[in-house]
Amino acid sequence: MGQGIRKAVFPAAGLGTRFLPATKASPKEMLPIVDKPLIQYGVEEAVECGIDQFIIITGKNKRAIEDHFDTAAELEEKLRNSGKDAMLDEITRLNTIDFAYIRQRVALGLGHAIFCAEPFVGQEPFAVILSDDVIDPDFKVLKEMIELYEKVKSPVVAIQEVPRAETKRYGIIDGEIENGAIRIKGMVEKPDPNNAPSNLAIIGRYILTPDIFDVLKKQEPGKGGEIQLTDALISLMSQRPIYGYKIKGGRYDAGDKLGYLMATVDFALKNSELSDPFRKFLDKRICG
Ligand code: G1P
Repeated sequence: MGQGIRKAVFPAAGLGTRFLPATKASPKEMLPIVDKPLIQYGVEEAVECGIDQFIIITGKNKRAIEDHFDTAAELEEKLRNSGKDAMLDEITRLNTIDFAYIRQRVALGLGHAIFCAEPFVGQEPFAVILSDDVIDPDFKVLKEMIELYEKVKSPVVAIQEVPRAETKRYGIIDGEIENGAIRIKGMVEKPDPNNAPSNLAIIGRYILTPDIFDVLKKQEPGKGGEIQLTDALISLMSQRPIYGYKIKGGRYDAGDKLGYLMATVDFALKNSELSDPFRKFLDKRICG
């Protein structure tokens, strides 16, 4: 058994164009689902897996993320003095975690964002979490990916079946089942449905090995003129196997308006305080 996965990289420099105008001056990572910003769901998912070092790749208009994970002394004092202990616990729960922030000066793509994390990641395997892919905490996706990584000691990417018409929104893989995992044979970034090798899409959870940085360093821009992680993984595949972990569900594309609404409804229905009144409201709205 190695040292396990201790570090997680959160690319968060994207412009959030699918969610304008809300994301014009505020980070999409800070959009709330019920009462927590998208990025906090990702951070909590990683904490659950024993990850304790967080590297957030930020950009213009992203300062609210740093403030969110900082200590809020005045607010804490106020809550303490007014006996609001549960709320105090809630906002201080993540205070002991270390966050490093790296500013990606130009939005050159996901591959470039990950490359920016090299000095902090060093020579360790690490997780990558795209916070607009929100995962229901009941589905232990990252935990199971780490377990698979421990077996294969090679990169693992999360995979989900998507409707054919949606292949142009994702990295799409070609692969075959090997020992319960998918051994990836090929990948293509955002193919047209007619050219897609399958309907198996990469979703925003990766366990990567540090040799990805050597590839990313030399990676030429690909789809959309951006340095694509998918292209770097294709190059890495000539040196070592790459595996897919097919998730069992519970994933929402919360960077998209419809996916965001779906996540909000499902998470509200699971929330102990909101579930009953919200269900009543929905019943009335839908059944009249
Ligand atoms: C990125 C990746 C893509 C992957 C997707 C998952 O695309 O480039 O391969 O399928 O994340 O969310 P983006 O959504 O950043 O355009």
